[in-house]
Amino acid sequence: MKYDFDKIINRADTNCIKYDLRAAVFGRPDVLPMWVADMDFETPDFVREAVIKRAEHPVYGYHFKDEPYFQSIKEWLKRRHQWEVQTEWLSFTPGVVCGFNMAVLAFTKPGDEIIIQTPVYPPFHHAVTEHGRKLVCNPLINKGVAGYEMDFDLLEQQLKTAKMLILCNPHNPVGRCWTKEELQQLGEMCLKNKVLVISDEIHCDLVLPGHKHTPFATLGEAFSQNSITFHAASKTFNLAGLATSTAIIPNAELRQRFNAFVHSLEAELGNIFGKVATQTAMEKGDEWLGQLLEYVQGNIDYVAGFLSEHLPKVVFSKPEATYMMWLDFNGYGLTEEALWQKMTQETMLGLNRGKDFGTDGSGFFRINLACPKTTVEEAMRRLKVHWG
Ligand SMILES: Cc1ncc(COP(=O)(O)O)c(C=O)c1O
Repeated sequence: MKYDFDKIINRADTNCIKYDLRAAVFGRPDVLPMWVADMDFETPDFVREAVIKRAEHPVYGYHFKDEPYFQSIKEWLKRRHQWEVQTEWLSFTPGVVCGFNMAVLAFTKPGDEIIIQTPVYPPFHHAVTEHGRKLVCNPLINKGVAGYEMDFDLLEQQLKTAKMLILCNPHNPVGRCWTKEELQQLGEMCLKNKVLVISDEIHCDLVLPGHKHTPFATLGEAFSQNSITFHAASKTFNLAGLATSTAIIPNAELRQRFNAFVHSLEAELGNIFGKVATQTAMEKGDEWLGQLLEYVQGNIDYVAGFLSEHLPKVVFSKPEATYMMWLDFNGYGLTEEALWQKMTQETMLGLNRGKDFGTDGSGFFRINLACPKTTVEEAMRRLKVHWG
């Protein structure tokens, strides 16, 4: 491998949430941190070089996003996902979470029903509840080792009164890379009920070998006109601290409303380094990403093998996308609080707590495997000692 994903990087004391907020979140500063969804790998060297070059210019004044910036995103989407988008469809947002919150505010009213498919990334819940909209949970069906499926029967009922559905495509934390058929079915039901689809595709470039991402909007003109997609280079290339992402809105009327909303907040500026890093990653990132995915798949295979051999009570399915695994510890018969205490205080592992992803996540932990193999081995060693 040309890139070194084995390298241990000391991230402590960099105002890094994953390391420097351990005491606040886990009650002790020394848990092995495998929670927040960023990577313990270096941001690619070619991205850092581009950012440093820009940083060397002595003025950090106002900037704008130029044609080469949007071109890099367009070409990436075409090359990686066979999605041809037009420049005018693309709008900057300062992060995907901020973007879908803005979409909630721009397209729904207080009291409107918004559907999310739980267990799901906690900000999906907050985007609905924090703005006084009504949260409608459409729990995914947990098939254990066979993974999760969508509950279309319940969705059919829920869509009758809902205004919006926030889709996680691919899904965090369950790791599903939704198939064309699943997305087709969901999209047709949303169209029939005039429910707008917000498709968060931030994990779309982290699809693991053997799987293929389908951008929701590529499933036909009607779907593309009834959706807003969010994309970013941040998760894939470890740039989350640069708060840069893109809303893709093929429908002219939706686009005008969304852009007017963003403009009303004067939120379209962003930061120069996010622009430089995103553009560079989109232009030069293919080889690095190929190696990253291979490395992450190696970690996933290792964990899957280890758990099956030493911790048979932990139920999981292998992710099809993302660098996370979603582990069900309910087989231990402990309360949620007891599981949490044992994981943090005894095992000294800092994992995401399942219930934060929805009540159906109770008793689960999400583990982040975007880290050197030695870190993963240490985590497994601790699990075997305390849970084996
Ligand atoms: C599904 C999903 N959307 C959005 C984000 C964060 O996006 P951003 O940092 O651009 O706000 C994450 C981060 O884990 C995520 O998993």
